[in-house]
Amino acid sequence: MSVRAQKPKEISAKAAARPLLAWYDKHARVLPWRARKGETADPYAVWLSEIMLQQTTVATVGPYFMRFLTRWPTVEALAAAPQEEVMKEWAGLGYYSRARNLHACARAISSEYGGKFPDTVEGLGRLPGIGPYTAAAIAAIAFGRCATVVDGNVERVVARLFDLRDPLPAVKPEIREKAATLTPAKRAGDFAQAMMDLGATVCTPRSPSCNRCPINDLCDAREAGTQGLLPARAPKKPRPVRRGACFWLTKGDEVWLRRRPEKGLLGGMMEVPGTPWDVRDLSPAPGIKTDDCHRNVIETSRKGRGGDKPGTDDPLSHAPLETEWKLVPGLVEHSFTHFHLELEVFTATTRKKLIPGRDGMWVPLDEIAGEALPTVMRKVAAHAMPDAGPLFAKR
Ligand code: ADE
Repeated sequence: MSVRAQKPKEISAKAAARPLLAWYDKHARVLPWRARKGETADPYAVWLSEIMLQQTTVATVGPYFMRFLTRWPTVEALAAAPQEEVMKEWAGLGYYSRARNLHACARAISSEYGGKFPDTVEGLGRLPGIGPYTAAAIAAIAFGRCATVVDGNVERVVARLFDLRDPLPAVKPEIREKAATLTPAKRAGDFAQAMMDLGATVCTPRSPSCNRCPINDLCDAREAGTQGLLPARAPKKPRPVRRGACFWLTKGDEVWLRRRPEKGLLGGMMEVPGTPWDVRDLSPAPGIKTDDCHRNVIETSRKGRGGDKPGTDDPLSHAPLETEWKLVPGLVEHSFTHFHLELEVFTATTRKKLIPGRDGMWVPLDEIAGEALPTVMRKVAAHAMPDAGPLFAKR
């Protein structure tokens, strides 16, 4: 008996798209930015959702999307809003350059495009904050263009469908190439969202539900038994740790906050004033009250600096005011994409005058919830005043 080597099967656009679209017609997730059956997609809603969904989950985006759409129902309305208000509404979603670009894009659409979004990948890609992925998503979903959309869910589906075993990120170009061969000329937007939904609900990272998959008969990984292992990933480098300190200064029922520079991490957002975040060795000035759990950290850092005299990198040299600062036990921790942050929090109350201006402003504590305060700073606020924690949560 001769054993013939199996020829890898060709997965054609038709073979995959037809069952997948039929599945989507029955099982599509109901998401607030999606047009329902028979409705046409609103390019403004599609654009807004796609910007929010960059690096952020569907579950997190939902309430933000609804608040934005209620407050600014059209691109013209968003363009007319002050940038500060847009930043406040975005607070907590992260990657704040998205909010600045969103606003810049709305202004460009309003002033240069007569309030209408361009309807091609190329035209969309010329707008602020719209890269190749987002341009393809909007072109396909809002305008029915035949564009291929590859997000994390789609990557997983395609890597499995074609049993692509090279690790991410190196395998990305091959995934994109294969995904493009699957995209149908008609209903490309539905096809893109069907792939996303399949990845989110059936072809999940761990223990995929292959028996519920409408294209399981085409899946090379299922045939090889590798579906649970794909896509492979190159080992992640550990995130470096940065440290810093910040200063929670209250006067009556107000706290002293400042705005971060427009450019860079958390650009244009509010913050609790503090040291730069590369200060590794923290030590308190004499007279700081520390408790036992903190003495350990502080002594270690003093040793690192080779002495116990406060030097120029004394965190308190960055405080907004010379006064008796009290160190709050414990650390605030927050992970950004490229580093992990550990913050010490000092608190003080004052009756002295601090003049609002470039260096900061007094903000009523009961207005913090609506402020353009990023998540890390909400953690700082809750750490400084644990009893008032709920007051600082994003509304
Ligand atoms: N992620 C990015 N775009 C999406 C969409 N339109 N639907 C679901 N998840 C998404």
